[in-house]
Amino acid sequence: QGEAFCVSFLKMALKFEVLGKFNRARAARLALPHFVCQTPLFMPVGTQGTIKGLTNNQLEEIGCQIILGNTYHLALRPGAELIDDLGGLHKFMNWKRALLTDSGGFQMVVKLLVSLLHLADITEQGVTFQSPVDAKPMLLTPEESIQIQNKIGADIIMALDDVVKTTITGPRIEEAMYRTLRWIDRCIAAHKRPDEQNLFGIVQGGLDPVLRDICVRGLVDRNLPGYAIGGLSGGEDKDSFWRVVAQCTAALPEDKPRYVMGVGYPLDLVVCSALGADMYDCVYPTRTARFGTALIPEGLLKLKNQAMANDERPIDPTCLCMVCRNYTRAYLHCIVTKDPMGSQLVSYHNLSYMMRLSKDLHTSIVEGRFPEFVQGFLRVQFPKGD
Ligand code: GUN
Ligand code: ZN
Repeated sequence: QGEAFCVSFLKMALKFEVLGKFNRARAARLALPHFVCQTPLFMPVGTQGTIKGLTNNQLEEIGCQIILGNTYHLALRPGAELIDDLGGLHKFMNWKRALLTDSGGFQMVVKLLVSLLHLADITEQGVTFQSPVDAKPMLLTPEESIQIQNKIGADIIMALDDVVKTTITGPRIEEAMYRTLRWIDRCIAAHKRPDEQNLFGIVQGGLDPVLRDICVRGLVDRNLPGYAIGGLSGGEDKDSFWRVVAQCTAALPEDKPRYVMGVGYPLDLVVCSALGADMYDCVYPTRTARFGTALIPEGLLKLKNQAMANDERPIDPTCLCMVCRNYTRAYLHCIVTKDPMGSQLVSYHNLSYMMRLSKDLHTSIVEGRFPEFVQGFLRVQFPKGD
């Protein structure tokens, strides 16, 4: 079963090359149409085609390789037609590196859960929801999600999936998993730019190993350019979450990227990378920054705490980012939740931290010292051994 004989029937617009391994952990080179990335990698989340508070230059400066755009938000404003007319999202937002768009359904369901006013409903046809613009009922089908994402033009596009919270049980989990499998074929059939954009399938199935197994096999049979593990980060405990990731990564092909969706605590990046995952995205680093929390090797630094008021050190003395080279904790304490500049500076540091962590994971795997890196990470974060 040599690679040379592996004939794919779906075109791909990526090249994935594993550069180093340590047990299940891998460091790879992921060549996408707009950028050649190093994995493991973390993708900051933009909503309206921007990462809140950071310029494109700053994102490049901190080593950001892919940013995540949101089909749901972009389709509402400025609209997929307009983005297409203006030459695609890369050109529209002047981002030269890689982009990934999520399919849109997940954000609608999250909105439904967060606010019961936004009624969303999932049927075999697709996801129906009330437009937040004019409250008209709208329907997002798998075909439409792909058409919109083809217009937006990201390097990686995501299949429309039926997402349910992992904390629920019963037949709804099974229904969502089989529906996700039926929808993948509609997504594949609707995808018109397979030589420029990579369609990733999403493994669903809640916390049930049997359902996850059926879903992984079904998706692997479709020979997609990459695979995501979805339905996590929904309030399940770490043990169940890591168990699902371990099961899925073990069953997914070695020569394709694996993306754990919505995951972004530093510890989760380290653990999931050890389990063989390659890509992550999360709003956490920027969202927590806006609440005045900085990510540091020891864990979290709450800049609003009174103890910061006269602390002349940078956020993290071991960090070489622009913020740590120029600003003290005392200064950030003063402005963090009072001026937009405060949350921008902390977001800059937090994303720098995530980029450095991704790079350190990559390098330690390539250099054969991944266990030492993980031990060091854990010792600093959990000095008491808990
Ligand atoms: N973001 C976080 N989790 C998910 C998921 O399960 N599906 C999709 N489409 N997006 C996600
Ligand atoms: Zn810093």
